[in-house]
Amino acid sequence: MNKQHMKNFISVNDVSDIPALVDLALQYKSQPLLHQQLGAGKRIGLLFLNPSLRTRLSTQIAARNLGMEAIVFNVDKEGWALEFEEGAIMSGNTVEHIKDAGPVLGNYFDILCIRTFPSLQNKEDDYSEMFIRQFVKYVGVPVVSLESATLHPLQSLADLVTITEVMQQKQWSAIRPPKVVLTWAPHIKPLPQCVANSFAQWMNAWGKANFVITHPVDYELDEQFTKGATITHNQDEALKDADFVYVKNWSTYTDYGKVYENDPGWMLTEEKLFATHQAGVMHCLPVRRNVELSDEVLDGANSLVTQQASNRVWSAQAVLSSILTYTH
Ligand code: CP
Repeated sequence: MNKQHMKNFISVNDVSDIPALVDLALQYKSQPLLHQQLGAGKRIGLLFLNPSLRTRLSTQIAARNLGMEAIVFNVDKEGWALEFEEGAIMSGNTVEHIKDAGPVLGNYFDILCIRTFPSLQNKEDDYSEMFIRQFVKYVGVPVVSLESATLHPLQSLADLVTITEVMQQKQWSAIRPPKVVLTWAPHIKPLPQCVANSFAQWMNAWGKANFVITHPVDYELDEQFTKGATITHNQDEALKDADFVYVKNWSTYTDYGKVYENDPGWMLTEEKLFATHQAGVMHCLPVRRNVELSDEVLDGANSLVTQQASNRVWSAQAVLSSILTYTH
């Protein structure tokens, strides 16, 4: 039986035992229907205010493996425009307040999941995580983040499951911690910091890696997530002897939501991998080929991107199972 108990899943702070949650995900990978009755008769709602391929499908599959009925609602396209601000005078574009919609949703579903991207216009608003906080406040049932304004915990759990799986396959010696490098990559437009923030937060909480972050000057992330990591602006130095390289673009945090420099020299190539320990290359997807990562790396033997995406199912299943165990 799953011994994990979880009320909500918004960040790594909701997890009491990270290695146990990773082990549970890997157990589901080998036995997908192990707990197929756990969610029988229960319903999960997946609300999307932004697009998705992996998160949407993997969470549905995970729910069904646990016997739950999953319903997807593209709120941005099919629902009333929701208002999240307390005391708002709703004379603009929003039609329904979360204060009214939340309890209704909570009556329809046993678990609610929501994806809300940041605006990238106002740092204080985005980093206050108002949407997901208000959602938790008003729905009255457990909430799972499908990516919020600052974090993407289901992705980070799948990333850690992938790292653990590779280490197990390589029969990793406990003596040497893996060197895990998060490297900034170029992109054509400003992207959220969520995946990078969240990966940093999980790596630091896990505490079993030599964790290095490398990015150009001006791309510093919020210290609340990166504290504990080694940070350098020298990508070559960071990549030296790396065991895992996580490639991701993010826009500036300090002068919020900007693209300052977009040096194509930061794209990870096969040549750069020579300095690593045959590093496994990670990316959350979707990826801009030959902008963030070269074809040769993505299509090469070191690429872990498909494995990462497939592990999204087992990670989501471990999280939903832990919530169902809590509410049982
Ligand atoms: N990595 C990820 O969250 O993918 P989607 O945006 O397709 O869900």
